[in-house]
Formats: sequence, C-alpha cells, structure tokens
Amino acid sequence: MSAKASAVESAAAVASLRDEFPILAIEAHGRRLAYLDNAATTQKPREVLDAIATYYTTQNANVHRGVHLLSERATEVFEGARATVADFFNAASAKEIIFTRNATEGINLVAASWGGANLTAGDEVLISAMEHHSNIVPWQLACQRTGAALKVIPIDDRGALDMEAFARLLTARTKIVAVSQLSNALGTINPVAEVVRAAHAAGAVVLVDGAQAAYHLPVDVRALGVDFYVATGHKLYGPTGIGVLYGREALLDAMPPYQGGGDMIASVTFERSTWNSLPHKFEAGTPHIEGAAGLGAAVKFIRRIGFDRITAHERELLAYATAAVSEVPGVRLVGTAPDKASILSFVMGDIHPHDIGTVVDRAGVAIRTGHHCAQPVMARFGIPATARASLAMYNTREDVDQLVAALHDVRRMFA
Ligand code: ALA
Repeated sequence: MSAKASAVESAAAVASLRDEFPILAIEAHGRRLAYLDNAATTQKPREVLDAIATYYTTQNANVHRGVHLLSERATEVFEGARATVADFFNAASAKEIIFTRNATEGINLVAASWGGANLTAGDEVLISAMEHHSNIVPWQLACQRTGAALKVIPIDDRGALDMEAFARLLTARTKIVAVSQLSNALGTINPVAEVVRAAHAAGAVVLVDGAQAAYHLPVDVRALGVDFYVATGHKLYGPTGIGVLYGREALLDAMPPYQGGGDMIASVTFERSTWNSLPHKFEAGTPHIEGAAGLGAAVKFIRRIGFDRITAHERELLAYATAAVSEVPGVRLVGTAPDKASILSFVMGDIHPHDIGTVVDRAGVAIRTGHHCAQPVMARFGIPATARASLAMYNTREDVDQLVAALHDVRRMFA
C-alpha cells in the first residue's frame, strides 16, 4: 500500500476529508448522521457546490450559440468539463463523451440508436442476471422493436457472474453484451476486460454500465477495451441530471441521432436535415450546463483525492463492515462474490427490510431498503428486498459502528 493510501486510512485524514462535504455535519433525528446510502447518490464536496454557484454568478449563458462574453465563458465551462471527463475515463477524444441526463439515458441512447441500426430478428442481446433495471428494460424495448432476443448470463449463489455460462451463451448471434461493472444490489465487480475480450472475439460489441463503478475504481475505457461506457454525475460526487456516455468514435459516428432538436443539426430544411459532428449530434437542445460545471469539478475533486486512497480506504472499510454486520445475530449477507466493492446487502431473518431501514433511520443511519431497481436479482436469491449499506470515500468506522448498534436495536425490537 502506498504512503498516500495509508494516510487516508488514518481517522484524521478521513475527518478532514469529511469537512469538505458540508452536508455530513448535519444531524438526523437529533443524532450524528451516518450516511450509508452512497449507491443511491453520493454527497457533494464544497468545490462542486462552488463550481455551480460560480457558474450562475459569473458564467451563465447558453452554449455554442452567442458571440458575447458570457456565452463564450459558458461554452468554455461546458466543453472544458467534457475534456476533463474524457481525460478521467482516458477516452481517445472529447468527441467520444456525450453528456446525457444520467447513466440510464446513456443506455437508452445506445439501445435505441445503435440497437435500432444494428439489431434485427435472429440477433441476440446478452445481459447479466445482476443488472439494474436500467440495463434490462432499454434492451427489452430494443428487442421488441427489432425482433432480436434477450439472453441472460446467470450468476452464482455468491452473486458472481457465471463465466462458463457466458462463454456458452456468446455466439455468432450475439450482437451486443451489456453488463454492469459493479452491481448496485450485490457489490459484485465483474471482470469487464475478460468479458470484452471474449465478446470481441465473437464479433459482439460491449456496453458497460459504470454507474456504480466509476466512483470506486479508476476506469480506463481504452484499457478495458469497451465500446460504450455509461456513468452518472450524482454518484461521482457531482450533481444530479447529468450523465456520461462514452462511445468509440467510429461507432458513434455511424449511429443515427437519438433525439432531434437544436444543436444536433448541421442544416435543416423542411425536406431534410443533416447532423452536427460528434459529440453534438447526440446532444439535442440546451444541455445541462450547470451540471457539466459541477461534474467537471467533481471529477477534478476525485482526482485530487486519488483512487489509490479512495479504493484502499473503501476496501478496508468494507472488510470491517462485512465482519461487524455479519456478527449481528440473524443477519445474512446477500452478495458475497470474491471481488466486490462498497456494498453490503443483507436480510435479517423475517424482519422486513423497510422496518430495518425505518428503525436505523431514527438512529441517524441512512441506508436503502427495497429491491434496488434490480428485481431479477431479488428473484434470483428468493427474497423480496434487502437492506443495503453502501460506502463512499468519506465513511468511517464510526458510521459502521452506528449502523451495527442500530441493527441490534432492530433485533431487540422485533425479537
Ligand atoms: N440505482 C441506484 C441505487 O442502487 C439509485 O440505489
């Protein structure tokens, strides 16, 4: 472990990091807030909040349109954020970064545009059994429209991808493989580079849903070899309403537009329209400029902290939390894959997860309960829901201890 990594594990280093997130100082029901719902959304550091305020107080105008000073500033902020994001994901060019509303919209864009142009009856779309609804439903819609069939790679009892089944399901009929890099319900990290190698050898392209991975692990889209990668700003410590679709330039170039409107065109007559160059072809209408300003700042913030520190701290804390939560009588973990990050899903006998969530909330602990927009995962494990604690760079052992104490309250209350 590097010196930097051990530094972040000291309580003092995490405490000073927590100071950068104003919301972490608030109380919940008169108790210290233990925010453990990071897989749903992360909290925002001051420099993200400042970037948004600076945008509205000194830079606000529409982008790509005006010749005046503010429009130039807004365009610089917006395109600057794109360049920062391209660099963060190691894209070959900023043209390969499309700003979307969220990861969901990125997948819908690919399913509708690439899917509409490339899928036909007899083709297959391969997803996995651990996908979020956002990486299932867009493909069901694309299959309904094109006649392609949806196939599902199973997962084992630990929640790991069944790579042997994957190899069997991957055939000449497979046109695209769409898998998450990190499961929001189980915490499983999938071997994306291996999936990409096999899919490419079979002639399929690969979309990776990085909504959960991109704030826990360094992502290099070129090293992974992915064709499409989606992420969302609000999990990257940035604002809601802005997401990222990375696509290989050749693929994006060949794809038809997703939505029509201003900015995505080169010329318009009533007879026909022609399309703007990348990335603008996929960004119809006034974009989320403030969101891009915040996301650019968020990505710079993550880089300043550094993934070596983030990953080391979160891994250590997950190990601590896994041991501590498992010791609470009646707790059963759901999702125990050998390679996992940040997420602790569990059930407690027949106590409904919503009851767990409500009781721990009164103790100041924020967790998510329910099916986590992954109903097929719940079906796979034969449960309706789980309680889920999810970690981020600013969480501490104190947060975990507060959760564990609250789980003992739950047990006493429902015993
Ligand atoms: N998909 C997000 C979660 O898992 C919202 O909570």
